[in-house]
Amino acid sequence: MIVYFSGTGNSRYCAQFLAHALNDQAMDAFSFLREQAAAELNSQRPWVFVAPTYAWQIPRVFAQFIRTSTFKGSRDAYFVLTCGGETGNAVHGLTDLCAEKGFSFRGLLPVVMPDNYLVLFPAPKPGEAEEKITAAQPLLLEAARRIEAKEDFSMVKVGALDKFKSGPINEGMYRFFIKTRPFHTTDACVKCGKCASLCPLGNIHLEEGKPIWGDRCTHCMACLCGCPVNAIEYGKATRGKARYQCPVYKD
Ligand SMILES: Cc1cc2nc3c(=O)[nH]c(=O)nc-3n(C[C@H](O)[C@H](O)[C@H](O)COP(=O)(O)O)c2cc1C
Ligand code: SF4
Ligand code: SF4
Repeated sequence: MIVYFSGTGNSRYCAQFLAHALNDQAMDAFSFLREQAAAELNSQRPWVFVAPTYAWQIPRVFAQFIRTSTFKGSRDAYFVLTCGGETGNAVHGLTDLCAEKGFSFRGLLPVVMPDNYLVLFPAPKPGEAEEKITAAQPLLLEAARRIEAKEDFSMVKVGALDKFKSGPINEGMYRFFIKTRPFHTTDACVKCGKCASLCPLGNIHLEEGKPIWGDRCTHCMACLCGCPVNAIEYGKATRGKARYQCPVYKD
């Protein structure tokens, strides 16, 4: 079974691509994350966990979801992390997670997709996103072949800098950088409530139709990029930037 988390659609795309190639089921963890609930899942097919890379690691909310959920049946776990560039030493945390859950770690596949972190980077230029998604397809097909053949994914090379990124920099980003206070709306807000329904952590509530952010945020960019009138900004960092959603799922 393919189990996924996605903020702006890249990981959903990869999960559904794999589900199609493997003739298996893809399950979105959205409702479980939102309710802070554990899942009880059963599958004789290998578990394939698909998510974005956050600060060179699997997103903490998704790791926590895996940690607290029950997975009956197959003991094989493959991980596919979509990323804007690279996954650093994410493999280390994933092997620990597998040991904790009694899974046999079958490998990590980093898949470069359009970078959605608009707080730090610009959105992909027109056409660039489609190019990256097309370039990812052979990788995903090869991943499906390996899963079907019960082969491990290839090893990801990890150097000292990768360990630094996935270690102290990851720690620092969660502690000092992933904040909600800078989120605000402009006068363009039409009070549609979509941002609140899109948040996988249920971190947004509406007051007189306008969003108010709580402090349970993982910077997934779903609210900022999903607003139909681009009324959400993050401080000055996102001003004037195009928004990004995986073009396959864009409204
Ligand atoms: C909070 C945050 C942190 C990120 N950190 C990394 C990173 O460390 N390395 C990387 O290559 N991409 C990073 N990205 C880019 C995303 O992993 C990438 O765009 C991913 O495909 C988004 O998936 P989604 O559309 O399923 O949410 C980050 C994005 C966000 C929002
Ligand atoms: S999605 Fe945009 S327009 Fe709709 S309530 Fe949220 S900020 Fe306002
Ligand atoms: S508040 Fe926005 S950025 Fe934060 S988790 Fe919710 S949707 Fe993602």
